[in-house]
Amino acid sequence: MADTDGEQDTHDYHLDIAQTAPPFPLKGCHALDWGMKNRLSHIFDPRTGRTVMLAVDHGYFMGPTSGLERIDVNILPLLPYANTLMCTRGVLRALVPSTFNKGVVLRASGGPSILHELSNEHIAVSMEDALRLNVAAVAVQVFIGGEFETQSVHNMTRLVDQGNRYGVPVLGVTAVGKQLARDAKYMRLATRICAELGATYVKTYFVEEGFETVAAACPVPIVIAGGKKLPEREALTMAYRAVQQGAAGVDMGRNIFQSAAPIAMIRAVGKVVHENMPPQEAYEYYQTLAREAV
Ligand code: R5P
Repeated sequence: MADTDGEQDTHDYHLDIAQTAPPFPLKGCHALDWGMKNRLSHIFDPRTGRTVMLAVDHGYFMGPTSGLERIDVNILPLLPYANTLMCTRGVLRALVPSTFNKGVVLRASGGPSILHELSNEHIAVSMEDALRLNVAAVAVQVFIGGEFETQSVHNMTRLVDQGNRYGVPVLGVTAVGKQLARDAKYMRLATRICAELGATYVKTYFVEEGFETVAAACPVPIVIAGGKKLPEREALTMAYRAVQQGAAGVDMGRNIFQSAAPIAMIRAVGKVVHENMPPQEAYEYYQTLAREAV
């Protein structure tokens, strides 16, 4: 029982100040529940509304990808510079210290390896296990136009139903089959379908022409995947153009962990995403940090 002796009278009601709620910084997310928004705030920096997600989940279908052979050695040193880590539950439990207190986006679909039809995925994690791991979101691949399009969409909608029940955001990841054109028309179709069917936010690829229409037509935040390894200046330019045209950040893997200087690269990407640093300046920043690291 609290000791009430000496309890002071309440008096400071600030009657001249109306109670307000600050706007939530992510588009299309104002109507979400508190827990969902709180989880999103472990992904997107509330100061900028943007994120640098470090994607290291490639092993779920590619095995030990170049740069990910030893996640303990190569990836853990990058974590201080990421807003969020995207990985599988296997890597999370085996290799990521539980003292890591930023958001984790958990890969939640899988099945086929690179040796088979990639669109034939199923849900690969229960929402119960995702909650046990205290993740900030789950990620599911959606193959619009792929052989198992409907199955992959249903994977996403099932996770959305479960995520809505427990306050866990779902990242819809648009996966583009080799036979499909990676243009704005396709990206508008794929991202819009993910958003309409309930994805909390969507990952897609940057396209040279018309990316701003992809971002504008998607009613929830969009982040871009990095894609295959590019020269650092080009990757920084792509990230810059994406955020300037409406992306809420990047979910970047190979262009960071396959860089000659991964820490320098992720720090330069952070400057582009959170501080709007132009690509040439960011590239010089990268070069300076890379030289210091040698
Ligand atoms: C795809 O396999 C995974 O979802 C990756 O997380 C995604 O492609 C981003 O990684 P990267 O920047 O290497 O394309």
